[in-house]
Amino acid sequence: MSKLWGGRYTGVTDELMWAFNASINFDRRLASADVRGSIAYARAIARVGVLTESEAAQIVAGLERIAGEFERGEFQFQTSDEDIHTAVERRLGELIGAAAGKLHTGRSRNDQVATDVRLFMMDELRALSERLRATQQAIVHKAEVHLDLLMPGYTHLQPAQPVRFSHWLMSYFWMLQRDRERLTDLLKRVSRCPLGAGALAGNAYGIDREALARELGFAGVTENSMDAVSDRDMILETLSWAAILGGHLSRLAEDLILYSSVEFGFLRLAERYTTGSSIMPQKRNPDSMELVRGKTGRLVGNLMGMIVTVKGIPSTYDKDLQEDKEPLLDTLDTLHMVLPIVAGVIETLEVNAEAMRSALVEGLLATDLADYLVKRGLPFREAHKLV
Ligand code: ARG
Repeated sequence: MSKLWGGRYTGVTDELMWAFNASINFDRRLASADVRGSIAYARAIARVGVLTESEAAQIVAGLERIAGEFERGEFQFQTSDEDIHTAVERRLGELIGAAAGKLHTGRSRNDQVATDVRLFMMDELRALSERLRATQQAIVHKAEVHLDLLMPGYTHLQPAQPVRFSHWLMSYFWMLQRDRERLTDLLKRVSRCPLGAGALAGNAYGIDREALARELGFAGVTENSMDAVSDRDMILETLSWAAILGGHLSRLAEDLILYSSVEFGFLRLAERYTTGSSIMPQKRNPDSMELVRGKTGRLVGNLMGMIVTVKGIPSTYDKDLQEDKEPLLDTLDTLHMVLPIVAGVIETLEVNAEAMRSALVEGLLATDLADYLVKRGLPFREAHKLV
């Protein structure tokens, strides 16, 4: 089996070691980003004379064909494909021959993978921002429909003061608003192009990194090549953002589970977001919201795992960093499911105004009564005692 890095090797790689080292099973999801990055890189090295016009044209045409194969699901992976970068380069060689061997000039998989992940993340995070906005929209619509409906507000889960149902629901809108702001902010740091950092010491061919970054849709370039190949802050920030968002959704799920219990009866989850029991015929369980609450565990776990992975590794790229992709992908995939489920549950939520009204017990107005007495001239402490 011929390897990209096989030049200095004479022996074989242990079979288990090969499987242990390979990342193709998950980084194949970076395929489109990898091809995009390579097309832009081919143009960049052509501009400084590493490739002739015709070599660059061949490489770009070959890569475009590979992009098509990925899109149509026709790309044939081989057991010798260690990762997505090797797979694409191997296929390019099959398609265009010798010219393919010039694409990697001045580039390392270290700056390549960092670029791929960032490109992938920009698409994913923008899509998640839209999903987040759609969830907020579902909240606003529901709040508007029941704008003036009153319910008990709780502290310590004890009835506290009457509040509008819409006020309670909109409290989650604002949590998600901060999540969206955090996302917008962290996207600025994702949008930096590491390509040209090489293995760690930069690019020997004087490519125009600014132009390359612009062509790929980045807002700018990374400033330090040694930092660029090992920086995974954008992943840590994303996982941390997702863990906080997961916490908010988990609290919303908990409220919905509680308020839709038979004991409260304020709300009812639409049938399509509940499931029955295999033994108890009467059951209608809020599994959708329990799963949303439960998924918080993996969102937090992915963050914890990644923080430990990057802790204490020596400077620049170390293979430990390959461990960044699975938690990232898992967190993004989880949110792609969770957000539309939450939006759907909110949209289809049935509201029981009667149950809310009968839960408005007298004691809920105690604070208002004290306030009334204050307005009639009593000091608050005395009014509190009297009530
Ligand atoms: N699969 C590797 C990763 O995801 C790509 C970079 C490999 N770099 C290297 N020096 N072996 O991190």
